[in-house]
Amino acid sequence: MGFVFGRVEAARAAEAQRDLQARADRSEARAAAVEAQLAGLLDALPDGVAMVTITGHVTRANARMASLLGTAPKDRLFVELARDPALAEAMARALSGNATSLELDLRHRLVAMTLAPLPGAGAVVSARDVTEVRRIEAARRDFVSNASHELRTPVSAIAGAAETLLSGALSDTVTAQGFVEMIARHAERLARLTGDLLDLSRLESGAANLERESLDAAALARSVLELVRHRAESGGVALAIEAPAVVEVSADRRRLEQVLVNLLDNAIKYTPSNGRVNVRVIRSGERGARVEVADTGHGIEPHQLERIFERFYRVDSGRSRDAGGTGLGLALVKHLVQAHGGEVGAASSSAGSTFWFTVP
Ligand SMILES: Nc1ncnc2c1ncn2[C@@H]1O[C@H](COP(=O)(O)OP(=O)(O)O)[C@@H](O)[C@H]1O
Ligand SMILES: [Mg+2]
Repeated sequence: MGFVFGRVEAARAAEAQRDLQARADRSEARAAAVEAQLAGLLDALPDGVAMVTITGHVTRANARMASLLGTAPKDRLFVELARDPALAEAMARALSGNATSLELDLRHRLVAMTLAPLPGAGAVVSARDVTEVRRIEAARRDFVSNASHELRTPVSAIAGAAETLLSGALSDTVTAQGFVEMIARHAERLARLTGDLLDLSRLESGAANLERESLDAAALARSVLELVRHRAESGGVALAIEAPAVVEVSADRRRLEQVLVNLLDNAIKYTPSNGRVNVRVIRSGERGARVEVADTGHGIEPHQLERIFERFYRVDSGRSRDAGGTGLGLALVKHLVQAHGGEVGAASSSAGSTFWFTVP
């Protein structure tokens, strides 16, 4: 006789069946939730991440990796997504158990990749865009080398003059006078350079310590104009100002003066005689000003205009140095204005240049 289910047994069996199904459903839901979490986790990473199989095919990649590669990498051969012999070699090493790092040019970005073997099988690739970091490093190196170069010129001039004096020129008063003047001139230049460098480094480290007060930008501009009037007129450059009676701003008086002196100094220095320099102070909002310094100089080419606020950048370095420039004036201007929360810019044509800035 076969076993015959009674009603009770049949009900139990059905219940067990339902139970099993429910458990299977739950574990499927759990797996889906874990999968969604993993995908969310990977997509939240700032770096690109991809997993590849032992054959080098991508099984999983986050959004950042897809954007670095410029394509969705899933199921494709990783090394074909960024064709580079160094990458193919690194992948082969990773797949045979050795972690490797390299930097690749990927769609005009510099991308640092690390390929690490994955226990079990395959490998993990992580990728980071290092374009900006490398650019800053290069700028820093350039800066140190430019600064050293700038400092060396006056230092060797001073050393040379002193040596000449010591080896006999002292006894000839006329010659000696010339060499001492040379020492004084180069020492002054050295002081200007180190002063500007110190100012810049303080501003860049965020230690600007602005002493803000409520002041009249129009009055300040008028007083700076008087400060440079003599120099302008002896160079045959006419100065004029256009400003409302009072333009109230909140700024550090000495710093704002420094900005204006630098801009006016440039405008006068780079404008040939019979030219003009015009300052405009415009009220912007209830408090705040826009200041423009326009000249009738030679103007600056567009590709140079882009770089004019960089440290040590000069259109004509010989001319700038002869005029006592350090190449740091506009870099200082930019930092000073930004420390105030303002903006700075320049426009130029063959008829002259206009430098402007705002103070809130
Ligand atoms: N008003 C201007 N007209 C023409 N060129 C200018 C003007 N202002 C600045 N420049 C150019 O920008 C460069 C950088 O200016 P700046 O940082 O003040 O350095 P510096 O005046 O010490 O040379 C100058 O060397 C000059 O070539
Ligand atoms: Mg200058």
